[in-house]
Amino acid sequence: MTKEKFLVTGCAGFIGSHVVRRLLKDGIDTVGVDDFSTGKLANIKDVEGKFRLVEGDLCQAKVAEEAVQGVSHIIHLASIPSVPRSVAKPVESMHSSITASVTLFVAAAAAGVKRIVQAASSAAYGDSRATVKTEDLLPEPLSPYAVAKLTQEYYGRAFSLCYPIDIGSVRYFNVFGPRQDPNSEYSAVIPKFISLMLAGKPPVIFGDGSQSRDFTYVEDIVNGNLIAARHSKPLRGEVFNIASGISISLNQLVEKLNSVLGTKFQAIHSDPRPGDILHSRADISKAKKELAFAAKIDFGEGLRLTADSLRAS
Ligand SMILES: NC(=O)c1ccc[n+]([C@@H]2O[C@H](COP(=O)([O-])OP(=O)(O)OC[C@H]3O[C@@H](n4cnc5c(N)ncnc54)[C@H](O)[C@@H]3O)[C@@H](O)[C@H]2O)c1
Repeated sequence: MTKEKFLVTGCAGFIGSHVVRRLLKDGIDTVGVDDFSTGKLANIKDVEGKFRLVEGDLCQAKVAEEAVQGVSHIIHLASIPSVPRSVAKPVESMHSSITASVTLFVAAAAAGVKRIVQAASSAAYGDSRATVKTEDLLPEPLSPYAVAKLTQEYYGRAFSLCYPIDIGSVRYFNVFGPRQDPNSEYSAVIPKFISLMLAGKPPVIFGDGSQSRDFTYVEDIVNGNLIAARHSKPLRGEVFNIASGISISLNQLVEKLNSVLGTKFQAIHSDPRPGDILHSRADISKAKKELAFAAKIDFGEGLRLTADSLRAS
């Protein structure tokens, strides 16, 4: 068996920084690439020097070619992952997902990379009426971000068919955990709420709070990626939901956070945001059956670990 060498794209981002740490902990030869557009050096500061870091934009062929040298597997996370930011900057969103991915796939196929597992998004399901999202539902992307992430999946399939490389897409739902940025105007809901509540302020919910999400702790996402990357059979452009499979409303989230943080906040409600979807829960039976994936981290435990890390930062 040839030795594994993993490239993590978007290595200085939230999820990428966890994948890199896990690979290094497992003693895997690791390379990372990032242009620091949304990622931060601080996210990988303590592992700096322990892996080869390529700094640059994957939309540039030179950067992609340098990053894939000698690599056997790629966990492809680089992208600018925000629905509202994609509405404000659709061209940037398109390049960060589509141009960067296609440029990476070309370089990887030419360099003999065996497999790419790429981050896809539940945003592809849009407001599909199905309460539980199965991978065979007709996609209904509602935002430039969703269109770009879905297009990435289609490119993954096309490259698996037309080039000597195997690509699979793993659709995440709402990932949370340490090192997720709480301070940007585009921040995800969990770090934003925790950081407001730790500062003694009530969380702000867009809409009535009945909207629900499938929140997944980042360690489960890392596992899902590595299981897919090492799967014994080709993925051939297949799409898998990688999530907890459990639905939590934003009102329930605030209740749960009050219990984790020992607070008693009532959320403030404001107008719903354009492009936001109402309900999102994954059916994870395909990943369970074909990849033997299961989410393992309890939601409350994940919130506690996230809150501890935000308190310490
Ligand atoms: N966080 C979630 O809940 C979630 C849900 C569904 C899908 N995803 C997907 O997971 C992936 C990682 O998300 P995240 O939450 O860690 O986001 P993040 O913003 O923390 O990380 C993305 C990283 O990619 C880098 N990057 C962006 N464009 C690049 C480019 N052209 N070249 C090189 N690097 C580039 C950024 O600097 C950043 O470090 C994304 O592809 C996202 O679409 C995330």
